Order: sequence, then C-alpha cells, then structure tokens
Amino acid sequence: MLVLGLETSCDETGVALYDTERGLLSHALFSQVDVHVEYGGVVPELASRDHVRKTLPLVEEVLQSAGCSAADIEAVAYTAGPGLLGALMVGATLARALAWGWGVPVLGVHHMEGHLLAPMLEEEAPAFPFVALLVSGGHTQLVRVDGIGQYRLLGESLDDAAGEAFDKVAKMLGLPYPGGPHIGRIAERGDAGRFDFPRPMVNRPGLDFSFSGLKTFTMNTIADCRQDDGELSEQDRCDIARAFEEAVVSTLVIKCRRALEQEALQTLVIAGGVSANARLRAALDKALAKMGGRVFYPAPAFCTDNGAMIAYAGAQRLQAGQVDDADTRVRPRWPMEELPPLSGSPP
Ligand code: KG4
Ligand code: ZN
Repeated sequence: MLVLGLETSCDETGVALYDTERGLLSHALFSQVDVHVEYGGVVPELASRDHVRKTLPLVEEVLQSAGCSAADIEAVAYTAGPGLLGALMVGATLARALAWGWGVPVLGVHHMEGHLLAPMLEEEAPAFPFVALLVSGGHTQLVRVDGIGQYRLLGESLDDAAGEAFDKVAKMLGLPYPGGPHIGRIAERGDAGRFDFPRPMVNRPGLDFSFSGLKTFTMNTIADCRQDDGELSEQDRCDIARAFEEAVVSTLVIKCRRALEQEALQTLVIAGGVSANARLRAALDKALAKMGGRVFYPAPAFCTDNGAMIAYAGAQRLQAGQVDDADTRVRPRWPMEELPPLSGSPP
C-alpha cells in the first residue's frame, strides 16, 4: 500500500511517501525556523499560513523524486494531533481534500505515535515489547510499548518538556530558537567540572520528570555569572550549557534505566527532537550496554518532526483497515493511551 503522509503539527512541513512493501520512497521537509526565529518561538498563525504555502509543493516534490504519480497513491495519512490547532487543520483539510479527490481512504495519525514508531523505518528495527522515551518540544514521556496502539504511560514531565527546557535555557543564554541543537554545540566547549547542576526528581521513586527547578537553577547561575556590563563571558555560556545538558541527560538516563528495570525489559527506543542530542545518545548507549540491552534511535533526519514517521504510522493502521469517518477532527491535546490497538502485527 502506497501512503502519502503529511505532518503540519508545529513549525515543520513534512511530506513523505511510504510503501508497505518497498519502504520509504521519498520525503521532503520545509523548516519554518526562519519564519519564527525573530520572535524567539513559534507564532501559531504564521505557522498555519506557511503550511498552506508549502504543503502542496512538497507533495509534488515527493511524487517526482519517487517517480510516482498521484494515481499511484492508495491512502493518505496526516497528523491529527497533538499540536497547534490551526497548523493541524491545514494538514487535515488538505489531506482529506486530496483523499476525497483521489477516492482513497484517509487517516488522522497521532504525532507522538509517529515519533515513537520512527525507529521502525531503520534497517534494524526494534522488536516489541520495549520502553520508549519520547522527548520533544512538547512531551517528555516514558511509555511501555507492547505493540502498535498498545501503550502504557509509565511517567511524564510534570511541568516543562525536555525540549522546552532546552529552548528556554538557550534563550537565557542568548541562543536562537530552537535552542536544543545550539546548546549541544556550545556545550562541547564547556568545562564539565565547573558547575554541578541538580538532577531533578532522581532521588524520589517513580518515573515522572520535572525540569522547571533545573531551569530556575540555571537562571540563578546565569545571574551569578553576569559581568558588570550584564553580559556573560563566552566561556561562562559554554560551561553553563554543558552543566545544563549534563543534568538533563543524566536525569533521562537514570529514569530510562529505572523504567527498564521496572518492566523487566532490555530494549529502549528513544524518539522526538531531543533524541538527536549526541550526549544523550552516547550516555544511553553506555548505560544500556552495561545492562546488556540496546537502544534504538531514528535516523537524525527523523528525530525531529517529519512526514516519514506519519506516513509509516498511518500505513500500519490503514493496512489494518482503520480509516477516518467523514468528519474532520483534529486534537490539539490527545493522550496516546486513547489510541486503539492494531490487530495483527506490523510487517
Ligand atoms: O520532535 P520535535 O521536532 O517537535 C515537537 O514535536 O516538539 O522536537 C523539537 C525539540 C525542540 O525543543 C528542540 O530544541 C529539541 O527538540 N532538539 C534538541 C536537539 N535537536 C532538537 N534538543 C537537544 N539537542 C538536540 N540536538
Ligand atoms: Zn514532534
């Protein structure tokens, strides 16, 4: 089954063609970073308008690069939530209009399920059951995954998501939006021994996270380091970025290890924008190797938002017979545990 996937939940327009027999045929992405950078964050209305401009040209692009025509498409999948209401509506109405015009089924996909299944696009895909750490701009969740649609939330952030904390700390350090990759870059030049930031909630039992205290601690450290002119020295910025990154990474590693022990599992999947972080990947690889387990990641291009993960997740469900009814519904908030299980197992 050849499925067109559309992702428009936030500030990236992602489009892809996934074939259940041949795999991923093509994908294209337009990042709106330049649209939002001057505001220091995503402006929802600007995001919606840009999705309107970019989605159809990207559909044409993926068809062309896959050597397919619209007549070959057998189903359409789009992100139905969670995300920004207006941005989701653009993808939903476009997907449904295309599917209607082509006379093919259409299905709204859960954005975090897309992230969660993105490692399945790799040659060496993880086998169920596993524990997934979902770390994006809006979510920090540990989930037990027994199959597609069989999700049990083990823990989540009680306040800021990990990516959100990266973005806010980056802003405090005068780095552009989105801040995660910039923190990673300058942390490389930081002195790991200079500051010791707290690891939030690791001494309490359970698998929930909280990053707002760490954010405040970082803000206070920045205030203490300011020079007479109110600026931070370049070395201070790098050292603070390093200490913050180390604290987030070791908190995530401790909770992943705890979740795996609790569930008696040895396979960890990590997905979402923060899973692109090199220090996190290295630390998780090391921790899992020690446990005799293994970590699976999406390819770097599929860690952050993209159309391929939506085409893939949609294809699994469409192939199992799931389709939308005639109403267009998007869900800015949507607990993943509400998703129905998939009958049969993925190919
Ligand atoms: O999954 P994603 O593209 O969008 C959401 O669904 O939210 O995640 C975006 C988040 C942003 O907060 C961004 O700063 C963070 O992922 N991020 C990173 C890195 N790359 C992206 N955080 C830390 N290190 C990175 N290399
Ligand atoms: Zn995302």
